[in-house]
Amino acid sequence: MDPTADSAATITATWRPGVIDLGPGHPSTDLLPLGLLRSAAQGALARDPSILQYGAEQGPLRFRHQLAAALEAETGSATDPDGLFVTGGASQALDILCTLYTRPGQTVLVAEPTYFLALKLFADRGLHVVPVACDERGPLPAALEAALASHRPALFYLVPIFGNPTGVTLTPERRAAVVDLTAGTGTLVVADEVYRLLQFGGLPPASLAGEGHEHVVSLNSFSKTLGPGLRLGWFSGPEAIIGRVRASGFLRSGGGLNPVVAALVGELLADGRFSDHVRHLRRMYEGRAGALGAALREHAPELLFEDPRGGYFIWARLPGAGAERLRSLTGEAGADYAPGAAFSVGGGFSDYLRLSFSHYAPEELAEGARRLGEGVRALLAGD
Ligand SMILES: Cc1ncc(COP(=O)(O)O)c(C=O)c1O
Repeated sequence: MDPTADSAATITATWRPGVIDLGPGHPSTDLLPLGLLRSAAQGALARDPSILQYGAEQGPLRFRHQLAAALEAETGSATDPDGLFVTGGASQALDILCTLYTRPGQTVLVAEPTYFLALKLFADRGLHVVPVACDERGPLPAALEAALASHRPALFYLVPIFGNPTGVTLTPERRAAVVDLTAGTGTLVVADEVYRLLQFGGLPPASLAGEGHEHVVSLNSFSKTLGPGLRLGWFSGPEAIIGRVRASGFLRSGGGLNPVVAALVGELLADGRFSDHVRHLRRMYEGRAGALGAALREHAPELLFEDPRGGYFIWARLPGAGAERLRSLTGEAGADYAPGAAFSVGGGFSDYLRLSFSHYAPEELAEGARRLGEGVRALLAGD
């Protein structure tokens, strides 16, 4: 079975009237900062017509400085503008890295469960995907070591911070194990960190690429903070990788990726409006995560889950659940979710549900949990 074929169709479904769909990991439309973008556009478009030119391959220098300064302020970690490469989002960064660092038929390791559309992207490229087992602290070092030895993979892909779908963040020990075990193996580690800035307290967890390792790249994006329609993101990594991407035919031909949007977003980074907006989002999403968690405990106490500390998702388990049956019963009650098997290479995790709290207001999340509970009760009653 191709694990990506159906899941892509079902999870990115359009919103259905009357259904509370906790499946898609989309921001809520009322949290998208249209007004901020409007005023940023006025500033950026008034200043300099050269933003409409072919842009520098690595991204506009001015923007990379603005981004580095904002990341330093948000994370407390020194950030070098020359270590940032501007992209049209994390998906594009992953696609470009696959172009340059993989060949069809090679193996990619993924920390499982994983972001289901990365699986689709790897499948499109004819890559052989091998899962690496994880626990609640991250990939199991012994499993990673064995997979590296037997498959000699081109890439190891993981979502190490507020993971999709699990919400898990790697412990410092597991981060170190990932970096150390892969060093010198020829495997490129691609850490997809698109939820990193959405922590519910303190500073964000450290980026996997933050220590300057030669074989580690971190992907990030404005999709989860400013809006996916912007198609703007970045990756950070060592100069050897940045230089190789900069010199690729795609970048040489078309120039930098999305320079106009970068100029707009740069305005928001430079004067603190991005920072204020992200602070607001963190509060909103923390409240929503709390509302969904509390309502699940009330209405669907059979579900087992940890409260997330950031990101967009609750990863819940209903031991022994027949996933398809539960989904149809939940559907009858007017709710939906992303089934766990979508996040697995081989259809595992079928008794898990990924529940996104990003899209709905707290009252709707509570109602979604109530409907989910109805489905669970019907399942357990054998309906
Ligand atoms: C882990 C992960 N990576 C990448 C993406 C997509 O990122 P972008 O919109 O920047 O391409 C998502 C969106 O759901 C995601 O959850």
